[in-house]
Amino acid sequence: MIHRVQVRGACKSYGAGFTALHPTDLDIGPGELVTVVGRSGSGKTTLLHLLSGIDRPTGGEITVAGERVDLLRGSRLASWRGRSIGLVFQFFQLLPTLTVAENVMLPMDFCATYKTSDRRARALSLLERVGIADQADKLPQAMSGGEQQRAAIARALANDPPVLLADEPTGNLDRSTGDHVLELFAGLAAEGRTIVMVTHEHDVSRFANRQVTLADGRIAQPRDAGATLGVAETVVR
Ligand SMILES: Nc1ncnc2c1ncn2[C@@H]1O[C@H](COP(=O)(O)OP(=O)(O)OP(=O)(O)O)[C@@H](O)[C@H]1O
Ligand SMILES: [Mg+2]
Repeated sequence: MIHRVQVRGACKSYGAGFTALHPTDLDIGPGELVTVVGRSGSGKTTLLHLLSGIDRPTGGEITVAGERVDLLRGSRLASWRGRSIGLVFQFFQLLPTLTVAENVMLPMDFCATYKTSDRRARALSLLERVGIADQADKLPQAMSGGEQQRAAIARALANDPPVLLADEPTGNLDRSTGDHVLELFAGLAAEGRTIVMVTHEHDVSRFANRQVTLADGRIAQPRDAGATLGVAETVVR
């Protein structure tokens, strides 16, 4: 249950005229790594923001990690997000004045998920996991893009969340660095974490169980799937 993502008729409109996401259904189960692809403006980030509660749907229901995200507000939303969701962004979004280890400890501090005295050791073990333990006491700006993204992944794992949501995590990395980051995500999915990853790249399918293609705010049909409206998914196995 806590490893599931379930979207029922969720949609998002801005103002009266523009619909960024039309009513959408989506089911993602434990250990699945689903990539979300589509042109710029197709609604990928919108979908991810709805899943993470960064933004609220105009209609429909969204259940992630056992909670109806669309109903959560305020401190309950912040606490759920801090414990249940790991977020990774294209531009890493590490705090520049904190060391890498301190960045990774931040979600633990925020949610008080681990004893104060255990937090640094946990941060170091997560940095070890992503291969940059030796950089723990550097400031982010002293690291390469790939290293910063690894640090951001370690931070996303700080509270051991069942669900990871990533918006173009390799968008700012060269191919081989990006592949390492994708392998890291694939390993995390193999452990049973549920991962939804927005990407511009079309050759990530070898890392993913499934690919969802968005076009103009709708999940696109597989090309030969007939003319039914709505919610089919492009399945890549
Ligand atoms: N706050 C907002 N107000 C009005 N329109 C918005 C807002 N946020 C997004 N949009 C519009 O919604 C559509 C979908 O945007 P979204 O950011 O989800 O696209 P995307 O698929 O992530 O694109 P990209 O690949 O460029 O990141 C776009 O047309 C965008 O201009
Ligand atoms: Mg986007």
